[in-house]
Amino acid sequence: MDRIKITGGVPLEGAIPISGAKNAALPLMIASLLTDETLTLQNVPRLADVQRLFDILANHGVDTSFQGKRNGQDSLAGQTVAMTASAIVDTRAPYELVSKMRASFWVIGPLLARMGEAVVSLPGGCAIGTRPVDFFIDGLRALGAEIDIDAGYVIARAKNGLVGNRVRFPRISVGATHTVMMAATLAQGETVIENAACEPEIVDLADCLIAMGAKIEGQGTPTIHIQGVPRLHGARHTVLPDRIEAGTYAFAAAMAGGDVTLEGASALHLERPIELLRAAGAEIDVTNRGIRIRRNGHGIEAVDADTAPYPGFPTDLQAQFMALMTSGKGTSHITETIFENRFMHVQELARLGARISLNGQTATVEGVKHLRGAPVMATDLRASVSLVIAGLAAEGDTEVSRIYHLDRGFEHLEQKLSRCGAQISRITG
Ligand code: UD1
Repeated sequence: MDRIKITGGVPLEGAIPISGAKNAALPLMIASLLTDETLTLQNVPRLADVQRLFDILANHGVDTSFQGKRNGQDSLAGQTVAMTASAIVDTRAPYELVSKMRASFWVIGPLLARMGEAVVSLPGGCAIGTRPVDFFIDGLRALGAEIDIDAGYVIARAKNGLVGNRVRFPRISVGATHTVMMAATLAQGETVIENAACEPEIVDLADCLIAMGAKIEGQGTPTIHIQGVPRLHGARHTVLPDRIEAGTYAFAAAMAGGDVTLEGASALHLERPIELLRAAGAEIDVTNRGIRIRRNGHGIEAVDADTAPYPGFPTDLQAQFMALMTSGKGTSHITETIFENRFMHVQELARLGARISLNGQTATVEGVKHLRGAPVMATDLRASVSLVIAGLAAEGDTEVSRIYHLDRGFEHLEQKLSRCGAQISRITG
């Protein structure tokens, strides 16, 4: 199995191009199920999760074609993909496909809206908590779907089509907001989603749906209004930059030291992480190229953080922030409020010499002067990259195993970091 080897202690200097956001690309690709015309997506990242979703969508009848490289295009540039679901040939999403990635469950919304039925396996995905689907089911039922769960499958039917309604989520869910929003675009009448997720990826999907002919207002706020239309058409849309990838490299630069520009990153989507980085002693400048981050000479201040739905501090950056705090001057408290089991990186960071104790949903991190390289194991997507960040700053060699987790969500990770001087390489086999 592939591993990543890092020789730490080298400051990062240079530029890192930020890829299209995985968490926007996935729902955008799923939106191709809503129309028989072609949806063309630009800036789609090359990731294992994206590839997996192409396979899942192909099973429903989506034809996908990739545009070739263009003159002068950087080898790290995203891809342009044309997706056409001229006919949905299968409304069933089987366990073998859905169990590998939670977001594939979201096909239930478009399939139900367009075909009046969907049979979708209960999802899998990262092992970061129980992650139920009750909000999806209640939301789709509110739009008139009849839903049964049998033998691990959610069976949803709306023979006469979906009908708009008020849907109030008991707590904020990104996936349930994406799914009900997509379903409501083809429902009869108006749907109002209350307590909706406000993440930039929700806004990106809404903007694409609007380009496809949907009538949506309020995206990016807790109340989204969707006026159903009889059909959607093709469109062209560019996936927004990945704020989690940008935040990850910002924490890496803060921890390893140096001067890095995150090309194309949107500071607007990273307000809280930037606030924390500044409090920790990093210098951040927002330029027309992206975000520049520097830490030269100063130590890292210990800062507290709680994860929260957007615009709060993202749970997807919690592990990376914890890696940074392991080298803080003092004690930091990090509280996870979104997922109940998202501290699997703690024991691996401890192998590098970090001092972290857990009390319920709060981690107390006592900064140490130096981490020491060690063999560590990736456990989930974001946890694994926190080990890479720590390895970049640790003395000596760190080897991260089970890096298939990293390949799910970080495009060209080793190339991007080695362009900035990091000593990082992939060992295959
Ligand atoms: C998405 C992101 C993931 C991120 C998460 C929170 C993608 C592909 N994934 O995941 O990277 O960490 O948002 O920002 O975009 N919940 C229920 N019932 C439900 C649905 C959710 O109880 O029916 C709970 C979850 O268990 C969790 C919380 O709601 O505790 C938030 O989860 P949610 O926002 O739905 O996460 P995802 O959409 O799966």
